[in-house]
Amino acid sequence: MKKVLVTGAAGFIGSSLVERLQETPGLEILAIDSFTDYYPEFIKEDNASRFGSAVRLIREDLGRVDLAGLLEGVDTVFHQAGQPGVRPSWGQSFDSYLRDNVQVTQRLLEACRSAESLQRLVFASSSSVYGDAERYPTLETDRPQPMSPYGVTKLAAEHLTVLYAKNFGIPAVALRYFTVYGPRQRPDMGFTRFITRSLLDVPIEVYGDGTQVRDFTFVSDIVDANIAAATAEELQPGLVLNVSGGSSVQLRDALTLVTELTGGSGDLRFTDNVPGDVLRTGGDSTLALHTIGWSPKVGIRDGLQQQVDWLRPRAATYAPLVGGA
Ligand code: UGA
Repeated sequence: MKKVLVTGAAGFIGSSLVERLQETPGLEILAIDSFTDYYPEFIKEDNASRFGSAVRLIREDLGRVDLAGLLEGVDTVFHQAGQPGVRPSWGQSFDSYLRDNVQVTQRLLEACRSAESLQRLVFASSSSVYGDAERYPTLETDRPQPMSPYGVTKLAAEHLTVLYAKNFGIPAVALRYFTVYGPRQRPDMGFTRFITRSLLDVPIEVYGDGTQVRDFTFVSDIVDANIAAATAEELQPGLVLNVSGGSSVQLRDALTLVTELTGGSGDLRFTDNVPGDVLRTGGDSTLALHTIGWSPKVGIRDGLQQQVDWLRPRAATYAPLVGGA
């Protein structure tokens, strides 16, 4: 890698990736983000404030920017941009999921067809393509059957990535991330809400009865997977890989850990299930091990400890974002 483009670069995963990439001497990094208002801008500004001189931050919308110019000389694209969030993807907000996940990805793929220097495109897909999966641990070849409009758009974008790879030889690989957590996790996501509320001694709101299971994956493992996918030699274009934490954890057990690590009271309030939420995720990531040499390294206790340490001094700032004030 000599010159890379990271999309969604000021977000949770994008900024974690940029921060790691800038440790590579001589690597030129183009970091693009449109700073959408899905969550407060100051969070993305804070994420981007860690970018050093190797990074050129471009505040533009991928749906409008001159992509041909942007891709000039770029050998690797990490396409992390998108409209995230499973539960809010119903109703009118579907427009932004369709645009930012499907149309923008198609626009980028079209531009990649003429990008002569491109050697690898890594697309951020999602475990939400599986919905309530056919079996656990789920394999990449199991039938995708999303449960949320969000999952439908991520699957559509993934299919586009694969078909551009197959038809035009774009050297693309799609990584299906499983519930990513760690420092800088978005404020709408589970652990940010649980940890912040616990630190502030506000009851934790649990959707459903807490028996749902997630294959939580620590953010540094996701960064590792991106770099492994970008640098692996001889990948079959259009490869799809599970990138999963390796340990499916029941939400109730994860919350016990949160209470222990924060020193909170463990006060839980159970509410109705939220449409779109699946009961269980759990990926088999053997194919990632065999093709890109990746396997997860960080366990849930260690990962959660890092997220607690990161959130502790920020709890008051995050309070209004997680219903804690
Ligand atoms: C996450 C991301 O938000 C998606 O963008 C991503 O694509 C998806 O993972 C994925 O793996 O594909 P989710 O699994 O819902 O989606 O992650 P969290 O928001 O961290 O929720 C984890 C669990 O906690 C869910 O069962 C959710 O219902 C529950 N939860 C979350 C609560 O009980 N209360 C809350 O306040 C928030």
